[in-house]
Amino acid sequence: MKYKNQKVLITGGSSGIGLALAKKFVENDNTVIIIGRNLSKLEKVKVENPKIHIFQIDVTDDAEVRMLVDDMDEKFDGIDILVNNAGIMNLIDAGNEENDLQKLLQEIDINYNSPIRLLHYFLPQLKQSENAILINVSSGLAYVTFSQAPIYSGTKSALHFWTQAIRPQLKPHHIKVVELLPPVVDTPLAHGADIAEDDNLKPMPTHKLVELFWKDFMKGKEEITPGISSQLRLMSRLAPKFIFKQLNKKPIPNK
Ligand SMILES: NC(=O)c1ccc[n+]([C@@H]2O[C@H](COP(=O)([O-])OP(=O)(O)OC[C@H]3O[C@@H](n4cnc5c(N)ncnc54)[C@H](OP(=O)(O)O)[C@@H]3O)[C@@H](O)[C@H]2O)c1
Repeated sequence: MKYKNQKVLITGGSSGIGLALAKKFVENDNTVIIIGRNLSKLEKVKVENPKIHIFQIDVTDDAEVRMLVDDMDEKFDGIDILVNNAGIMNLIDAGNEENDLQKLLQEIDINYNSPIRLLHYFLPQLKQSENAILINVSSGLAYVTFSQAPIYSGTKSALHFWTQAIRPQLKPHHIKVVELLPPVVDTPLAHGADIAEDDNLKPMPTHKLVELFWKDFMKGKEEITPGISSQLRLMSRLAPKFIFKQLNKKPIPNK
């Protein structure tokens, strides 16, 4: 695979892991396009990283995503690498009947439906690329459920299984499928969770995560499990009840 001079689209590239990945791809002489909802966040990235192209797009909005596909076609003659990274994590008490159903379902739409939507619309461009790669950013929590974020956990394991299912299907089309399953990483998303305060799960800095990702990515690894994610995978097989208990000492989020 080539890792230079590629056109890389990263969803949720205005913050955290997506932004760190965007900088790494730029450093390695790729053309990088990032998308996000919040324009001021995107513009700040542009000021600090003039080489990064920004587009204000909500990944859950079908019409906006279709416009993005046309834009990528016209401005860049298509993309080579699609990184499905945009995601949110809501701490939810499923026992609370006052939960806002729309908000509950929005998490599924961003974390799970949107990677499917993005692949669907970008498939023709990826098929045209000589170096097509789909990178899905799921989570170490795809291996072990995190009770405080029940919908998040469900979407990440669904994304993990979807990624595994489509890998052999996309192979005949020469689209390589890579999954990054990060551990707890120091980003705004993790700051909202009690889990980040647990000493055993000290958040990894974004630059460290990307360094580890890049090493495995260069080796051609398809399932990339930095830090504690590899232990979560192992423990989920060897001692699933034990690791579940370890991760879920506080199953209900603090009010
Ligand atoms: N941090 C962790 O501990 C951790 C661990 C495992 C996996 N992950 C995964 O890594 C990915 C990135 O998370 P992060 O920690 O870097 O979070 P983050 O810093 O909060 O960044 C999330 C990014 O997604 C964008 N986004 C959210 N909803 C969107 C939408 N509807 N349309 C377009 N963009 C959207 C955000 O921009 P706007 O808000 O402006 O739209 C932002 O750029 C997520 O999939 C997350 O689940 C994170």
